[in-house]
Amino acid sequence: MGWVFTDEMRFYLHDGETLLQGMRRTQHQMVRFECQEGYCGCCKMRVTAKTGVVNMVRTPIAILEDDEILACCCCPVGTVCVTYVPKATDQHDDANLASWINLMNVSNNHT
Ligand code: FES
Repeated sequence: MGWVFTDEMRFYLHDGETLLQGMRRTQHQMVRFECQEGYCGCCKMRVTAKTGVVNMVRTPIAILEDDEILACCCCPVGTVCVTYVPKATDQHDDANLASWINLMNVSNNHT
C-alpha cells in the first residue's frame, strides 16, 4: 500500500494492513496498543508528512488533533512519515479518563 517511515525504521505496508498491524509485523519496539478498536488512544501517532491519503478502516473514538491518527484504525496509501506521541505529554488521555470517570459517576448515581 505504501512506504511508512517511523521513529524506528522504514517498512512497506501491505494491502489491507493497518498501520498498527504493519508496525507489529515489522517488530517495532516502541509501538503501544491495547484495544485495537480505536477507543483507548494508546496507538496514537502524529503524521509529519505524507504523499497520499490516510484511509480509516474504523472510526476512532479517542480524541485526536488534526495531525494525529490511530495506528489501529488507518491504512495509509502512499508514503507516510509518523512519529510516536509521547504518553506522558498526552493531554487527551487525561481528558478521556476524566470523561470516563464522569460517565461512571453518572451511571452509579442512577443505580
Ligand atoms: S490500540 Fe486502542 S485506539 Fe488503537
